[in-house]
Amino acid sequence: MTTPLQQLQSRFRIALVDVLGDQVALPDVVVGPASQPQFGDYQSNVCLVLGKAVKQNPRALAQSLIEKLDLADICEPPEIAGPGFINLRLLPSYLAREITPKLGDQRLGVAPVISPLKVVVDFSSPNIAKEMHVGHLRSTIIGDAIARILEFQGHDVLRLNHVGDWGTQFGMLITHLRTAYPDALTTPDALDLGDLVSFYKQAKQRFDLEPAFQIAAREEVVKLQQGDTTSRQAWELLCQQSRREFQKIYDLLDIRLTERGESFYNPLLASVVADLKTQGLLVEDQGAQCVFLEGFTNKEGDPQPLIIQKSDGGFNYATTDLAAIRYRVTQDQAQWLIYVTDAGQSTHFAQVFQVARRAGWLPPTVKVEHIPFGLVLGAEGKRLKTRSGDTIRLQELLDEAIERAKTDLRSRLDIEGRQESPDFIEEVAQVIGLGAVKYADLSQNRNSNYVFSFDKMLSLQGNTAPYLIYAYVRIQGIIRKGEINFATLAPHLELCLGDDTELALAKHLLQFADILSLVTQELLPNRLCQYLFELSQKFNQFYDRCPVLNSPEPERTSRLALCQLTAQTLKLGLGLLELKIIDRM
Ligand code: ARG
Repeated sequence: MTTPLQQLQSRFRIALVDVLGDQVALPDVVVGPASQPQFGDYQSNVCLVLGKAVKQNPRALAQSLIEKLDLADICEPPEIAGPGFINLRLLPSYLAREITPKLGDQRLGVAPVISPLKVVVDFSSPNIAKEMHVGHLRSTIIGDAIARILEFQGHDVLRLNHVGDWGTQFGMLITHLRTAYPDALTTPDALDLGDLVSFYKQAKQRFDLEPAFQIAAREEVVKLQQGDTTSRQAWELLCQQSRREFQKIYDLLDIRLTERGESFYNPLLASVVADLKTQGLLVEDQGAQCVFLEGFTNKEGDPQPLIIQKSDGGFNYATTDLAAIRYRVTQDQAQWLIYVTDAGQSTHFAQVFQVARRAGWLPPTVKVEHIPFGLVLGAEGKRLKTRSGDTIRLQELLDEAIERAKTDLRSRLDIEGRQESPDFIEEVAQVIGLGAVKYADLSQNRNSNYVFSFDKMLSLQGNTAPYLIYAYVRIQGIIRKGEINFATLAPHLELCLGDDTELALAKHLLQFADILSLVTQELLPNRLCQYLFELSQKFNQFYDRCPVLNSPEPERTSRLALCQLTAQTLKLGLGLLELKIIDRM
């Protein structure tokens, strides 16, 4: 099954070849959605684009083209507009025909991609012994949505959690715990993550102030890197502790991830350095091994170095990422690498990608992308922090969302005079509260900063999770009363679409697959959110204008079918955005 846009594209291509032969290469896109409703549903500017190339007046070319265009089963007769645009309006009978087979189809007619790719999505990736902060929450939510959408499209996705589980922080932490809390280094569960974070802060302070501590911490790192058993064991316990805390958040948000932290690549770092050296890319600069970058300059305008190995022999964040790229391409056989982190790491990734390309570790056939995102801001427009200026604990943030959703729900139930069980209240509050946090993040263009506001994200009005889930619940109620089994009815169903709001809803429903491919091209989940929001709005306009349950047949069944497909689309779309839904709320 293909979308109206895809069908129009292919009909246009056939007609264009008919008219122009092989005089000129056709652009990839020959038809697009109309920019304004008065131009119809779809519009083509291909005659304007090609007119020049084939030295023909665009309007005349448009005239020859529509004579060859075979669209009678899809649109009303095409209209030529302005300097040579072609405007297209879909036929109600065509819309009706296209909707029917989607009813009851789990995939809503979206075919998996023809050539699936092996994709690595590197996301979430918090750091051991540090609190997972809202930046990691954004990465987790956006990364998971991207992974889900790619999986739905049929790609083979490896979801990797590149946790920061290696490096100097462990030297400090272990050295400090030896005196401050030795049990933590030998006994599982001796600490929780909150304690670990404050021990880490103390350790950092001592490291900055006490020269003897600094030396001891450095020696500890070396011991750890050399595989000393007690150091290793202490490190392992600290990692387990953090991991357990992270897992609570993942469980709550229903996130699946494979942990492959920085330590995993440790044995591969020496060969990164050696191979860069063999290739002549490595230069020694003040004792450090560097690659001089193309297109990155320092204040003096000189090429900037990327340090691969420090003068003390230690490796950097970038070195690990180089090893990771190599591993992902050669061992995982990845054809597409996606990294979801805050925009502050854009330069890091641009530099690492450049070195990997120059070293031949990223062949031209492998696509690599950093997917940056902006900051989460508090009400005053600064980075979201607690009142005392500390990092917000994610667990508390999510618990608060659920608590607030519960309060909202209880007061609504009171107003409506409804009695519901504690289990019901618990479930609804969880779905709404967590959905609201996820959706607030996903519905923003990820490149911008956004202001975190419980009031806004939990509102039943506007582009929010509660609004969409409520629309779904409302439609479910209508469908239940309608008592029609679409699964058995679908093949024989004939829709009758007459009202403008019915047509607008039907057209929007048929764009679902186009939106998904747009989301994969740009990796912008907010496009899907916008689509679902508009879908709910179009549904509400339809429902205001067209009686459903009280209409005579065949309108009744036809309108119930529109309700059904809207509900299915909301369910699938919200599911791809990792939101749960409920049948009642
Ligand atoms: N641990 C890093 C941080 O907290 C993010 C890691 C992202 N992934 C990567 N391959 N560098 O900022």
